[in-house]
Amino acid sequence: MTALLETRGLVKAFGGLRAVDGVDLVVEQGRIHAVIGPNGAGKTTLFNVITGYLRPTAGRVLFRGQDITGWPPHRVARIGLARTFQITNIFPRLTVLESVQVALAAARGREKDPLSRSDRTFRDEALALLEDVGLVGLADQEARTLSHGDQRALEVALALAIGPKLLILDEPTAGMSPWETERTVDLIYEVARRRGLTVVLCEHDMQVVFKISDWITVMHQGRVIAQGLPDQIRRNETVIQVYLGEQV
Ligand SMILES: Nc1ncnc2c1ncn2[C@@H]1O[C@H](COP(=O)(O)OP(=O)(O)OP(=O)(O)O)[C@@H](O)[C@H]1O
Ligand SMILES: [Mg+2]
Repeated sequence: MTALLETRGLVKAFGGLRAVDGVDLVVEQGRIHAVIGPNGAGKTTLFNVITGYLRPTAGRVLFRGQDITGWPPHRVARIGLARTFQITNIFPRLTVLESVQVALAAARGREKDPLSRSDRTFRDEALALLEDVGLVGLADQEARTLSHGDQRALEVALALAIGPKLLILDEPTAGMSPWETERTVDLIYEVARRRGLTVVLCEHDMQVVFKISDWITVMHQGRVIAQGLPDQIRRNETVIQVYLGEQV
């Protein structure tokens, strides 16, 4: 079986710093795959290169066997690779429902249509997505008035609007209360399973990582230092030394 996503010898250098330094990543279809590691390990940079926000210095990115190295973000999105950002990224002035309608319109190549308040285009589809992420009750609120946790859930809805095969989440529970974290983790798990989505996420909360991941890749100083099942990673001496030790 071909992996859904693969990187081969991926390198991203910023001047003399190799933030991503020869990463071979294999993401199997249907998995929730965590990428973990200390601050500055290169996780976000890896995600940025995969999704076209940065061009790699060397190496290849393959999605469903197709070479997508260096493709711009919109083209990467169109073939089914969606992402959220470490910093919440929503349309602050629109309502929750309008935000998702705009995302759906953009995904269908309709981004030039002005979205008037009365526009009902994609309304039912947007409501269905909001139902999936538990925000349907807040559909008519302005996105900027949502709690932090609800904004992150909205971001997931916006990413789902492109109908992705793979969803990349950069620190989905960053800055959340324990209660919001638990809700978000359940949400990711449910949405992934229900839609048959593959998820790659980076996360510092190890309870979250060990709860939902099927597979874990550990990065340190731009390199992959370990990968395996959660139980293997939990007991890996090198991983404990460079990362997990400081978590417990
Ligand atoms: N645009 C940039 N220009 C120069 N250096 C950068 C740039 N982006 C990231 N870096 C550096 O690359 C390294 C990897 O950063 P990156 O943000 O990918 O780490 P990370 O694993 O996501 O960390 P965190 O867990 O803190 O989010 C760091 O040393 C960072 O300072
Ligand atoms: Mg990061």
